[in-house]
Amino acid sequence: MTDEELNTALDHAARWLRVSKRVCVLSGAGVSAESGVATFRASNGLWEGHRIEDVASPDGWDRNPNLVWNFYNARRANVATVKPNPGHHAIAELEKRWGDRFTLVTQNVDGLHLEAGSVNVLEIHGSLRQTRCTVCGSVENRGLDPLGEMPECPQCHGVLRPHIVWFGEGLDDDIWSAAMVAANGCDTLLVVGTSAVVYPAASLVPIARRKGATVIEVNMTRTEASSSADIGLYGPSGVMLPKLLQKLGETVASATG
Ligand code: OAD
Repeated sequence: MTDEELNTALDHAARWLRVSKRVCVLSGAGVSAESGVATFRASNGLWEGHRIEDVASPDGWDRNPNLVWNFYNARRANVATVKPNPGHHAIAELEKRWGDRFTLVTQNVDGLHLEAGSVNVLEIHGSLRQTRCTVCGSVENRGLDPLGEMPECPQCHGVLRPHIVWFGEGLDDDIWSAAMVAANGCDTLLVVGTSAVVYPAASLVPIARRKGATVIEVNMTRTEASSSADIGLYGPSGVMLPKLLQKLGETVASATG
């Protein structure tokens, strides 16, 4: 995008946001890229050197739970060393303007949105910080401290697994219902840093659009969601979102001042 095209798109996006009563954000791995967390589809089908089906599927877990825990422990250790970037912080700032009329639906499991201060966050693919007992089902927040090779449930001594939605598994019904409510009811959907190819997450874009929401895409490149987007802000989210926030401030100030 040229500077002029970007400026026009930012003005347009800020104008829409200003008149929006309800805002929903769908975020993906790209929003954490500038923090140093690797995205998924930039890695040739390998994820930190592993085949995705070996480390992020129920079959992979049945075959080799130790490998799965090694992989997730490494991801947890990596996330413990990174910080939210200006993109996460801008989303947290946006939430302050809309309060409980703002919902952030994230596919990310790194917890960086919460660390940046976002409150109304639906982590639809789970969280690296949480474990789930394979026997009693209890879910616990374990932070990012090392968990050991095969951690056990403190209640029943069953084997714990990461509380992550793997390929071939369904989403939590309550969390997904809340995401659908947010997408169905928003006036603006911001789609940030996602390739929009993993379902059902990606279906929030057509769902919001069918209800008449304006769709704003923020990404390095065009994606599967781009044809549904009314406005595209193409560049790093850590740059684009603060610029959008600034525009919104200017728009609000010029309208009230
Ligand atoms: P992907 O890796 O598929 O896509 C990342 C997107 O971020 C791409 O569209 C990039 O162009 C974009 N991107 C990269 N750097 C960016 C930046 N600095 N600013 C803005 N955009 C940037 O990740 P997701 O769409 O999140 O599922 O993947 C969805 C799901 O697939 C993940 O939640 C995960 C994965 O398999 C589970 O773990 C269940």
